[in-house]
Amino acid sequence: MARKVFIAGNWKMNKTAAEAKALCEALKESLAPLAGKVEVAVCPTFTSLATAVEVLKGSNVKVGAQNIHWAENGAFTGEISGAMLKEIGVEYVIIGHSERRQYFGETDETVNKRMQAALANGLKPILCIGETLEEREGNKTEAVLEQQIKGAFADICECKMDQITIAYEPVWAIGTGKTATPEMAEETHAFIRKTIAALYNQEIADAMVIQYGGSMKPENAQALVAQADIDGGLIGGAALKADSFTALVTNAIA
Ligand code: PGA
Repeated sequence: MARKVFIAGNWKMNKTAAEAKALCEALKESLAPLAGKVEVAVCPTFTSLATAVEVLKGSNVKVGAQNIHWAENGAFTGEISGAMLKEIGVEYVIIGHSERRQYFGETDETVNKRMQAALANGLKPILCIGETLEEREGNKTEAVLEQQIKGAFADICECKMDQITIAYEPVWAIGTGKTATPEMAEETHAFIRKTIAALYNQEIADAMVIQYGGSMKPENAQALVAQADIDGGLIGGAALKADSFTALVTNAIA
């Protein structure tokens, strides 16, 4: 079953709006030749989302947010709702990134609430899951991932599954320069797909785009995406410059 390769840049807390505008302008041009061959998105901070949407309008580069609150509105100082994101033209939203789980108290339960809110507002979630080094070394990777998947997908309708992307990001590989080997990542991706098949069905699992994230670079993108169950990447560091992100996307589909 042919799944489209999907590469998303997670800019984290980087780039002012002016810097984001410059990077979006560069990417709009450098990625234009790849239109139709690959799905690409950039996920800037909240303050740069409107600018990114405006610059990238009509291009083949989509825009995603890095978080969403589950309530429609109300007394939630500092939070942003799905309707607010949708109105300015955002298409994707990263949910449950390990940095949010680690530093901001994100749990499987809040991840699920954010998933529900994103889908209710017509936004496409990029759900992040992944084990820590301690969990991998303790042979707990599969148990941890299964729990994160079951938690995130609780009460998520089968009818919404084609809107969702999963990003498998081993925490020990994020920003560390340590990438999982393509074989190691593939084994885990296959497990994730199997888990989705058990929760839903094989057809839904086969259609699910599963990105790898964690020190993916222009040099290793091709070998990772060549694996049967690796359908793209969620990119941090290498997404912050137009030349490295463009090279990465180009190599991923080479
Ligand atoms: P990295 O980050 O590419 O800098 O390792 C990936 C991520 O956290 O999404």
